[in-house]
Amino acid sequence: MQRHHYCHFLLISCFCFSALALSRSHNKQFDQALNYEGSSDLVNLEYHMGPVLASPIKLYVIWYGHWNPTHQATIRDFLYSLSSSSSYPSVADWWRTVRLYTDQTGSNITGSIVLSGEFYDSKYSHGGYLSRLAIQSVIRTAVNAYPRALPLNPHNGLYLVLTSPDVRVQDFCRAVCGFHYFTFPNIVGVTVPYAWVGHSGTQCPGVCAYPFAWPKYSGRPPPSTNGGNNIMRAPNGDVGADGMISVIAHELAEVSSNPLVNAWYAGDDPTAPTEIADLCMGVYGTGGGGGYVGKVYRDSWGSGYNVKGVKGRRFLVQWVWNPVKKRCFGPNAAD
Ligand SMILES: *[C@@H]1O[C@H](CO)[C@@H](O)[C@H](O)[C@H]1NC(C)=O
Repeated sequence: MQRHHYCHFLLISCFCFSALALSRSHNKQFDQALNYEGSSDLVNLEYHMGPVLASPIKLYVIWYGHWNPTHQATIRDFLYSLSSSSSYPSVADWWRTVRLYTDQTGSNITGSIVLSGEFYDSKYSHGGYLSRLAIQSVIRTAVNAYPRALPLNPHNGLYLVLTSPDVRVQDFCRAVCGFHYFTFPNIVGVTVPYAWVGHSGTQCPGVCAYPFAWPKYSGRPPPSTNGGNNIMRAPNGDVGADGMISVIAHELAEVSSNPLVNAWYAGDDPTAPTEIADLCMGVYGTGGGGGYVGKVYRDSWGSGYNVKGVKGRRFLVQWVWNPVKKRCFGPNAAD
């Protein structure tokens, strides 16, 4: 894997279990404005013959822990926006890049992602600390709950576990902000793709809510839409939830293009694949990379965003690798 080559100073890079990962040791990358926004030579993204999520996705969300309803509403609206028509550039327009990936039958990734069920695990069924593997047990609990269990859907189900600000997760904030994988039948009963993303608001906003917060260890002020030093405000008012949305977007793009970790990734090591969103870490607009988020929009309150969603919402999501253009791309691209 080539994480050294394309990560911005925050260095959220790929880690095993297809994680949105990061490493402080890569701070030395700080001064290097390397990015792949306009380059294709260094990327060896390959298809490894496995399936992609081509059938319409039924998304099931598990809210683990104690959640603020306002934050839930923001995240829910983002999920609704994935398959809704909003004015350009929309979240669905952003997802169009993901849809360019196909499997060996020629089927594209679906454009239909429907929020089909939610489960509130407000009793912290597996405690306040979750190992990576315990995320699968959280899913098992949700599909076996009585009375309001989530369906166990091995045909086109995708499970998204979201942990509240107080929940600690193995490697969270140190190595990962989220990850995706698939469940083991002996834990959940079937193999289904899933992703986990944590709310970093109290634990590490400077690490996982980039670019709305700034890593303390960096010694530098936060990035902004114009390359200056004024901090970019979160478009929906919560650094943790708005930061989570870009991580959720990242994980949804990757779980769809590499659900069983045998489809689309770069690098020779399937335990540490570099996936379609890993290639564009820290890039949210034209010119992005190396600590500059790129050209994004800014509203009158100073909030940064690059896509629009339902109910007039605005979100900031990182770009993903476009396999046709062979560069990172998003609907707010200047070209
Ligand atoms: C499916 O993927 C192919 C190859 O990237 C692309 O040319 C085509 O436009 C895609 N179709 C949709 C509906 O996105």
